[in-house]
Amino acid sequence: MLLVHTVAELDEALATARAAGLRIGFVPTMGALHAGHLSLVDLATSYSDVIVVSIFVNPKQFGAGEDFDRYPRTLDADCALLEGQADIVFAPSVEEVYPAGQPVTERHAGPVGELFEGQSRPGHFDGMLTVVGRLFEIVRPDIAVFGQKDAQQVFLVEAMVEESFSGLRIIVGDTVREASGLAMSSRNRYLNGEQSDIAEILAITLATVDRLIQDGMEPDTALSIGEELIAGEPETKLDYLALVDPRTFTRVGNGYTGEALLLVAARVGGIRLIDNHRFDI
Ligand code: PAJ
Repeated sequence: MLLVHTVAELDEALATARAAGLRIGFVPTMGALHAGHLSLVDLATSYSDVIVVSIFVNPKQFGAGEDFDRYPRTLDADCALLEGQADIVFAPSVEEVYPAGQPVTERHAGPVGELFEGQSRPGHFDGMLTVVGRLFEIVRPDIAVFGQKDAQQVFLVEAMVEESFSGLRIIVGDTVREASGLAMSSRNRYLNGEQSDIAEILAITLATVDRLIQDGMEPDTALSIGEELIAGEPETKLDYLALVDPRTFTRVGNGYTGEALLLVAARVGGIRLIDNHRFDI
């Protein structure tokens, strides 16, 4: 496995693969890798010959007062985890991704970028798309893998790819969970033991709302019960629990039939966590 830090080094490392027409698979990350990230790398192997993993904590997708400065940076441990899984790790500096004096295409997420995560984190999705677009231009992959854990991110990346990156195929990997059901996240390391136990309520709520709806309860009532479940936990502050149509990301409620996506975001002990669950109504 090769660790590179610059675009020039990456180009050199990929030159032979590109010339030979090998399929380049790409997994963008912000590091602090866990089994969820590794599952995406594993998935990429089924679709590509050469795998590039990027590790870059993107300042543009963090708002003022968010955890950019204290976001975990664990490059050595990340590389150890990727050894034997990835071919190239691309860990650029901020200057390499956003070179002074060089125009970088600023991307805009549009109306869906203002909902849910975007409402709580203004500008987050513009910054996310800007870096993902920039990384796509640098890596020029044939496929790129994203996690369903960040469902709204997947929705917006797919829309951007359809508009601006024809030929690039997006593969979506399932959410990897702890044995307790808690979705793995780089931010879970900030939870103490008790908060980790409390955080299980997110996955429990998603499963409960699904079951109540399957049992015939109207979605709006089931959502209220779900909200109460979360409100009943100590140290927990619900941001949103919402049922959306995965094709449009707009809210649906009573009377809806078809594929549904249940989204949740909450703070547990000040740590912001998100999760989601897809099912049919
Ligand atoms: P990051 O949070 O590091 O996540 C990198 C990728 O791992 C994303 O596609 C995310 O959805 C996926 N992922 C996270 N937790 C997962 C889990 N428990 N199971 C499966 N996949 C999981 O998402 C980002 O970074 C950034 O926004 C990025 C796309 C790199 C742009 O900066």
